[in-house]
Amino acid sequence: MPTTLITGASSGIGLEFARLFAADGENVVLVARSEDKLEQLSRQLRFTHAIEATAIATDLSRPTAVDELCSELSRRSLRVDTLVNNAGFGALGKFVDLEAERQRDMLMVNVMALTGLTRQLLPGMIERGSGGILNVGSTAAYQAGPNMSVYYATKAYVLSFTEGLREELAGTGVSATLLAPGPTETGFGEDSGMGKFDFFQKAAMSAKSVAEAGYEGYRKNEDVVIPGWRNRLMVTGVGFLPRVATRKMVAKIQSA
Ligand SMILES: NC(=O)c1ccc[n+]([C@@H]2O[C@H](COP(=O)([O-])OP(=O)(O)OC[C@H]3O[C@@H](n4cnc5c(N)ncnc54)[C@H](OP(=O)(O)O)[C@@H]3O)[C@@H](O)[C@H]2O)c1
Repeated sequence: MPTTLITGASSGIGLEFARLFAADGENVVLVARSEDKLEQLSRQLRFTHAIEATAIATDLSRPTAVDELCSELSRRSLRVDTLVNNAGFGALGKFVDLEAERQRDMLMVNVMALTGLTRQLLPGMIERGSGGILNVGSTAAYQAGPNMSVYYATKAYVLSFTEGLREELAGTGVSATLLAPGPTETGFGEDSGMGKFDFFQKAAMSAKSVAEAGYEGYRKNEDVVIPGWRNRLMVTGVGFLPRVATRKMVAKIQSA
């Protein structure tokens, strides 16, 4: 049975990914900080789908987290066929006002852990000539994000990294797909502060439908999956506008 490792599997989009891969008969490795939630989900998935589900609780903002996680995978003889880099968070506010430590943690989780895990797990996939990486970015990747500058920049990194990787992987049998959700009903809205905005609440899709779109796109080996017509329209429109205009628009809607 193939094994899929999902970061940020304790809630939201990651939890829905865990359900989808498990329902397809794949074994899953669930990673996040909330040990209780991971254990509960792994019990549920084992029971419902008769698969192996392993919970590994770790804080991916720690510099040693990726190495420790990979050592734990080796210790348990777990071979990862699909890596879903989904863990991530945002914070609304001006760069100079937000806590520096929170911004560093955001870079560690959204960028460093995603890159580190990919670097460690990809060689095995290439050697086997199969498997893939599914990275969760955001529609935030397509323009600068005043009042949430670090988060938007992390997601621009995820977009560029995944597209670059995809080309490098051509002919290896290993895929790289980006899922770029727009507003989604998860803990992200409240945690980041974005949930207070009308535009966010009105446009929010369910975590299940976002994960389903990502899952299907990954299975079809698509390069970029943008779930929902509103999000696709927004990203297309942004492509036609000068970056100075889009960043001023974001500054306006993300103020207050
Ligand atoms: N919701 C949206 O509107 C939206 C839009 C675009 C993109 N996204 C992206 O979608 C991804 C999933 O977020 P979500 O919307 O599903 O939000 P969520 O429900 O808050 O889920 C975030 C997940 O990341 C995990 N996580 C956060 N910090 C972590 C850390 N330091 N170490 C390990 N795990 C950590 C959380 O688990 P623990 O708290 O248990 O550690 C949780 O499982 C993120 O990359 C986010 O940027 C979300």
